[in-house]
Amino acid sequence: MVKEKIYILGIESSCDDTAASVLCDGKILSNVVANQSIHKAYGGVVPELASRAHQQNIIPVVDQALKEAGVSKLALSAVAFTRGPGLMGSLLVGTSFAKSLAFSLEIPLIEVNHMQAHILAHFIEKSGYEKPKFPFLAMTVSGGHTQIVQVKDYFDMTVIGETIDDAVGEAFDKSGKLLGLGYPAGPEIDKRAKLGNPKAFHFTKPKVKGLNFSFSGLKTAILYFVKNKSIENPNFIENNLNDICASIQYTIVGILLDKLKLAVSQTGINRIAIGGGVSANSGLREALKKAQQKHGWIPYIPAFEYTTDNAAMIAIVGFLKYIKNDFTTQEITAQSRLKI
Ligand code: KG4
Ligand code: ZN
Repeated sequence: MVKEKIYILGIESSCDDTAASVLCDGKILSNVVANQSIHKAYGGVVPELASRAHQQNIIPVVDQALKEAGVSKLALSAVAFTRGPGLMGSLLVGTSFAKSLAFSLEIPLIEVNHMQAHILAHFIEKSGYEKPKFPFLAMTVSGGHTQIVQVKDYFDMTVIGETIDDAVGEAFDKSGKLLGLGYPAGPEIDKRAKLGNPKAFHFTKPKVKGLNFSFSGLKTAILYFVKNKSIENPNFIENNLNDICASIQYTIVGILLDKLKLAVSQTGINRIAIGGGVSANSGLREALKKAQQKHGWIPYIPAFEYTTDNAAMIAIVGFLKYIKNDFTTQEITAQSRLKI
């Protein structure tokens, strides 16, 4: 008997990206993301505008994902959606859409935790990519979160460290704003850092005990640094932008690596997977490759398309839950503070 193929539609709408993806038996057939450029004018995500943009984008994005995959909605086995964490108004759009679609097609509905999805994105089938072996440590670094998670199995995860204030992506974005860079500033800082001297300026790393992080002090330090230097020389930022970016990135990556070293020594696990928007950062990727040579770590670095928010990661979690018959009901509601 030929085994029937499993087709999962994944839907992601937790923040400012509306995304849909179709997956067949662990392989991604389409991965569509509509970014909301409207927030650029405000230097950050405006929740009400995000929710409205999701409402406009959701149908065309899902339609495009099905078309690109060459799959009819009637062939879908299940619909998986991000239940949380995220912005309530944004989550509600994806949740309501997924519920209605699953109901009308009479197929199972699968809830997905966005942070688990950033980690389980490593299990998407990709030629030449070796998936992590359990147990491993996952560091999720995004605009909303910074966590170190001990992953014993697909759905057996424990958060062993997290930020006590700003997320690391916010540290990039807020520093960039001070430097007059657009939103989100992370990619721009990354680009400029490649052209600058990482040791040009020194920023003190925060002292936080254990595996927790703090980034708000760094942001304040950068604010005063830039203000004082600009009093001495009004063109300071303009004249030193690449060096400032390189020094900020060097400090942030140093903070992340210090905590990872501690996590490795505390748990005895040296398999390290990174996920979330900041895992696209070239400085972080380089630092992990160096740690592989220096400390024998085994790093798992995701493909760029699975770093920032996307629905392929939602679809893979949907698939992993589908094969264990882990479905949810139509009573489900979005939860903005959903924990791992
Ligand atoms: O995972 P994500 O798309 O959304 C959230 O769940 O927050 O992460 C977005 C964050 C933003 O803060 C953005 O500046 C940061 O990821 N980011 C980067 C890079 N690419 C995206 N930060 C540093 N370097 C990058 N190359
Ligand atoms: Zn995310």
